[in-house]
Amino acid sequence: MSTNTDKNASQRKFCQKCIEPECRSTFDLDARIYVCRRCGGLLDIERAETSSSIDAGTLEEWWHQRLSSNVPQDLSGVWRFRELLPIPSTAQIVTLKEGNTPLYTARHSADYCQLDALLLKHQGLNPTGSFKDTGMTVAVTQAKSLRSTMAVCASTGNTAASLAAYAARAELPCAILVPADQVSHAKLAQALDYGARVVEIEGNFDACMQLVLELSNEEPIYLVNSINPFRIEGQKTVAIELAEQLNWDVPDHLVVPGGNLGNSSAFGKGFRELLDLRLINRLPRITVVQAEGAAPFARYFAQQGTDNVQFANEEEPETLASAIKIGAPVSWKKAWRSVNESGGQVITVSEQEIADAKAIIGSDGIGCEPASATTVAGIKKLVASGFIKNDSSVVAVLTGHVLKDTEYVIGYHNQSLRTERDELITARFGNKPMRVASSRQSLKDALDRVRNESGLL
Ligand code: F0G
Repeated sequence: MSTNTDKNASQRKFCQKCIEPECRSTFDLDARIYVCRRCGGLLDIERAETSSSIDAGTLEEWWHQRLSSNVPQDLSGVWRFRELLPIPSTAQIVTLKEGNTPLYTARHSADYCQLDALLLKHQGLNPTGSFKDTGMTVAVTQAKSLRSTMAVCASTGNTAASLAAYAARAELPCAILVPADQVSHAKLAQALDYGARVVEIEGNFDACMQLVLELSNEEPIYLVNSINPFRIEGQKTVAIELAEQLNWDVPDHLVVPGGNLGNSSAFGKGFRELLDLRLINRLPRITVVQAEGAAPFARYFAQQGTDNVQFANEEEPETLASAIKIGAPVSWKKAWRSVNESGGQVITVSEQEIADAKAIIGSDGIGCEPASATTVAGIKKLVASGFIKNDSSVVAVLTGHVLKDTEYVIGYHNQSLRTERDELITARFGNKPMRVASSRQSLKDALDRVRNESGLL
């Protein structure tokens, strides 16, 4: 039996609301829109009740009790927090038991950043290997509730893999637009295997995104990119889960990679709601890290305080961290809210810094994909600049699994990884395979070398 099946369901009232201060138009939850019908602004999902109508202690208790339940919706680390989700309790939820991801200590990564301690929240351990699953379970559930006949997304690969899996579970046809030849094989393989129709566009991610946005107004399709506020609702539960793992004592700093900027938007919303509910008593500073060659949001941040503050897209984004090779992030206004309200920063890291940080995360026995490693690379810089103190509590969000981009990993360790400008990345923490002759003596010599290197002889 499910523990206390959502006692607030009958009173829950949510709406979609434009985030633009001078508009604030509201729309029903079942309006199939992705931006404000009046002004084109981004949409938030807001609850109509005041926060005091839910008792924080009761929520905390229910959420915790569900950890020992066997009911599918309790086994999901997203639906476990359903009181804060805009989906009626009668809906047929589409879940792969996403969420409930580990929060790891990481000795080498902490030392690398000159921190006393560093925690890594590994969202790459979701069912399809990335954080997208926490949002996709809600978006695909909403697609089914709206009786959509086809779900669509543009993707650098992970959203594609995630939609493909959830659409398959829901028996919902889906089409995925990816930039041709710019998506890692592992991600493409997932989407194909889960049965999605993959459309390779001769252009970059921003072109794919623009196309689906335009078509979503004309075609009977349901768009599940993070511009869809239901995605953000699912992803905000990661903030709840993280706060719960830390006994509701949030870290000083939370550091996330930035691409299309849905994830940083979701963390900001999640922590804000927890603060309103008084489940936490402060916000962590949310810092977003972008790759140097795909950093429109960091440039925007750097302009603050000058006379001419304007968001400008990056026309030709470049980075080997293909997940975040994005020049026109759709959710930048929401992400700005997260950073600004919490007192965080937006910074960039180089291709070399990403690659080295990724190897260090690997050396902790954890690993992640390149985009995720921007966090540890960024934290190292922020400790050096004094923004993060050596004894601060810091959580880095790892967004994707190490096996998402094995070509990159092998390239780095083999000392053959080159940037898009053909610059060789130095494998400062490289780990080349040893090749030895097929003989007992050669193998013995090789094993002696291993013992020597590890100081065991
Ligand atoms: N890390 C990984 C592994 C990602 O796949 C993405 C985005 C990000 C970070 C950036 O997150 O967009 O919320 O700021 N991937 C998208 C995709 C764009 O299509 O899979 P964001």
